[in-house]
Amino acid sequence: MYRSRLGTDLSDITLDYVSSINDDSEIALYDILGSQAHSLMLFQKNIITKNDAKKILSSLENLKNKKFDTSSGAEDIHELIESLVIKEAGMASGGKLHTARSRNDQVVLDIRMKIRDDINILCNCLLDTIEALVSVANNHQKTIMPLYTHLQQAQAGLFSHYLLAQADILQRDFERLYETFQRINQSPLGAGPVGGTSIPIDRHSTAKMLGFDGLVENSLDATSARDFVAEYVSMVAILMTNLSRISEDFVIWSTSEFSFIELSDEFTSPSSVMPQKKNPDILELTRGKTAEVIGNLTAILTTVKGLASGYGRDLQQVKSSIWSTSKISISALLILKSILLTLKVNVKQMKKVTESSNLIALDIAEKLVQDGVPFRVTHKISGILVQLAHNSKKPISKLTLSDIEKSVVGTKVDPAMVSKIISSITVVSSLKDRISYGSSGSNEQKRMISDRVKRINQYRTDISNRENNINSSIDDLERQIREIIG
Ligand code: ARG
Repeated sequence: MYRSRLGTDLSDITLDYVSSINDDSEIALYDILGSQAHSLMLFQKNIITKNDAKKILSSLENLKNKKFDTSSGAEDIHELIESLVIKEAGMASGGKLHTARSRNDQVVLDIRMKIRDDINILCNCLLDTIEALVSVANNHQKTIMPLYTHLQQAQAGLFSHYLLAQADILQRDFERLYETFQRINQSPLGAGPVGGTSIPIDRHSTAKMLGFDGLVENSLDATSARDFVAEYVSMVAILMTNLSRISEDFVIWSTSEFSFIELSDEFTSPSSVMPQKKNPDILELTRGKTAEVIGNLTAILTTVKGLASGYGRDLQQVKSSIWSTSKISISALLILKSILLTLKVNVKQMKKVTESSNLIALDIAEKLVQDGVPFRVTHKISGILVQLAHNSKKPISKLTLSDIEKSVVGTKVDPAMVSKIISSITVVSSLKDRISYGSSGSNEQKRMISDRVKRINQYRTDISNRENNINSSIDDLERQIREIIG
């Protein structure tokens, strides 16, 4: 449609190479809404007549329910929509749609509208997953398990504590995306190709009609910057690495060696050859797709880094990376939520493993500290006890008094006191004694759960206010359009 300067048409192979039409299906509706706001503003500013506006707006309205023919030869959705408007409204009116705008401000408008919706969807999915983590935690406040460092058993803990940690991590993902939204929800419309226009448009008015909080003011910035895209995909890449780590834990814990959890059948796959297999493919794919999202971020950053100022066609390529990032992360969250809600937890096995390891070693040392022995001395005593227990293949609780005497050699500590401490400590008592703020201690679980429930509710209100703001602006725009179309 725009090739009058060039004379020749693109060959099929070149057209296919330059066209973004297949990626553009994700932004078609945003392009129509943006075009409607733009033409309504042109009318309100007396730049086009009411009759022109009526024709343009009603042909755009008809396109809302249309399935676009992507083989029409258009280079992108902007060209296709404009050509369809001209076809229906006629050149005399339809030919005025593209007054005082460019595909450069159009495409970035559409991308911003798409990302802001995706952020709201993701924020809701995050809250659902966090809520699932907290509700499973609520049922497992007494489920004892080992906590790991270096994937070696470190301290006795509670499954609820593990789940609440993941809830807090995802809550930070929520907060990051929530804050990113403010920088995304700024309108670039009316920036033109790069330097603005001599036509007296009103950018503030189109921004308001489309539910934006403000403008990307500078027209060069508005059309050429994609830092907001990199920011969004970075936030999601971080989120995905968090989901990937949970997936890795669950993959390990569902092995027959661990047998801490069993994934519901619907989230596992059989083997084509080994009939006994129940593979955690779905979680493995979350790990795998995380790599894809990190790849998307790399693609975006490398596209942008060498670009001269102003729009360059390279920027067309970032769209598929955004769509893929949103699709993967939304699905990963929906799936994780269902995995959590259908998870079978092998409470007995978790407890057995915790009790059969010498995880009370630090608790013994801390009890001695409370009797006035320096920690470095108690650490040594407890370390010797673990070594003696390990060598004699019995738990610390079964060590004899003569074993205990060996552990206190060179210290002033009374072996009878050590023996008394050992016999008073169990994994359960150790968790009762764990009182520090945010610890795996039994009492901390209740407090953290009720605090997180309150926060989730607050965040739900914040997100629905945001969605309502956008929806009421768009409803208002549609009402104004109906008034003109009649
Ligand atoms: N299809 C293009 C994109 O996705 C739209 C902008 C084209 N602008 C231009 N000056 N060629 O980025």
